[in-house]
Amino acid sequence: MMGKLSIEELAVFCKRKGFVYPNSEIYGGMAGFFDYGHLGVELKNSIKQEWWKSHVHQRSDVVGIDGSIITNPKVWQASGHVANFADIMAECGKCGNSVRADHIVEDKAKVSTTGLYAPDLQKLIYKHKVKCLRCGSDEMKVTLPFNLMFKTTVGPSQKKEAEAYLRPETAQLIFADFRLVQENARMKLPFGIAQIGKAFRNEIAPRDFLFRCREFEQMELEYFVHPKKVGECPYASEFYGYELNILTSEMQQKQQPHRKMKVKEMLDRKLILPWHVYWLSFEHRWFISLGAKADNIRIRQHVQEEKSHYAADTWDLEFNFPFGWKELEGVANRSDYDLQQHIKASGKDLSYFDEESKSKIVPHVVAEPSLGVDRAFLVFLFDAYEYDSKRENIVLHLHPKLAPIKVAVFPLLSNKDELVAAAKKIYGELRQNFSCFYDESGAIGRRYYRMDEAGTPYCITVDFDSLKNHDVTIRERDTTKQARVKISDLPHIVWQLLSGMIGFDKL
Ligand code: GAP
Repeated sequence: MMGKLSIEELAVFCKRKGFVYPNSEIYGGMAGFFDYGHLGVELKNSIKQEWWKSHVHQRSDVVGIDGSIITNPKVWQASGHVANFADIMAECGKCGNSVRADHIVEDKAKVSTTGLYAPDLQKLIYKHKVKCLRCGSDEMKVTLPFNLMFKTTVGPSQKKEAEAYLRPETAQLIFADFRLVQENARMKLPFGIAQIGKAFRNEIAPRDFLFRCREFEQMELEYFVHPKKVGECPYASEFYGYELNILTSEMQQKQQPHRKMKVKEMLDRKLILPWHVYWLSFEHRWFISLGAKADNIRIRQHVQEEKSHYAADTWDLEFNFPFGWKELEGVANRSDYDLQQHIKASGKDLSYFDEESKSKIVPHVVAEPSLGVDRAFLVFLFDAYEYDSKRENIVLHLHPKLAPIKVAVFPLLSNKDELVAAAKKIYGELRQNFSCFYDESGAIGRRYYRMDEAGTPYCITVDFDSLKNHDVTIRERDTTKQARVKISDLPHIVWQLLSGMIGFDKL
């Protein structure tokens, strides 16, 4: 593989190694749906565990929930999704092919369609002679918006009253449960409620592998602040010296590229509010701490026209995908929009009693970090993937915390019973605490290479000296360096290596 890995090449790799399969492939598949394989499920679970650990367990100001996928449809009326969560379509007058209007304009005219309404898109279709992708006719007409929520019916009735939606985001469950969670967990402002779970969007054009699918998973956090304290973030100074690639809406209007800037300078120049930059930095640091590359991530402010119906200000964490800089994670300032909407629609009191002022207030969501697990999955794979020309092999430099298999155990030769027995004993012990793999097939070099491709950080080989000296060879994926360690020390050493407490050089 030469040059930058394409999304198609990554998809082929993922299928070959058992990370991701096209869903129901034996029946021709289904666009926008995927199945995670034996390595993929481990990587995905590790991403979710690491996110939960850093966003919930390690913070005293955040608790979690796990809401249901189907909920009372009034939730989606109140949130604005029934009215607004739609894409503008264009239909071919000749063959009836229906596509997203913004996509066909962007693909043909190479212009941004951000914030454009139906008449603007129609003008661009005429101006750039955009043709039907299926039959080639020039009769593409902009039609009614298409709502992206999947519908279903609840119970045996097929009537309108039985209709419900699969949730298009996890966030609304947090707002609907706000009062219960706040009171029962006795949370004091400022605080957050987090959730990980499936979301569904009937995307008109699912594309770029896992980037835009119809069923995906989100890791979301709503951070609530007293309305009078939205400008004061006690934690922002933690990141003053932190550097990010920044692209403000003004820089976009002036067609300037992103540039590096310290958080302190952003705040001094009033480019962004303290809570907002705090959460963007927190999210950015989470990615970097797990192996993503800082140069491939930037923060970009939404221009006025592209903001969602609920957002006062939104910044995205964008990743430099092979198909361009695209949204990896949205961090919106939702103000008190959602709680107020649910108060109005349900008639219930969702306010918070402020001890200081002895009054009821409706908190503001100053930041909503909202990350797709599947997009994070892509980012960690892209930044880990390397074709090593010396080894003539792919090496997946996944962070040990994310690696699907933490350690592999091999007997040097498979036809020597004593080696096999000793290796299986070690495998049996390590397996109690780490995801582990045993392999005795093929030459030892091939076994190492298979593990390099799976992203396994450490391999252990049992040889004839092991039987005499009670030690084994441990090999590090990234450097291919090897060291001898005592079998009795293995569980502790593997744990220290994986948690980063010691480096391989210390062995
Ligand atoms: N609650 C806010 C919200 O849902 P969003 O920008 O629509 O905001 C948040 O989605 C994140 O969910 C995105 O940044 C992306 O990571 C992920 N996401 C959204 N649509 C997706 C899709 N069709 N396929 C995969 N991931 C998606």
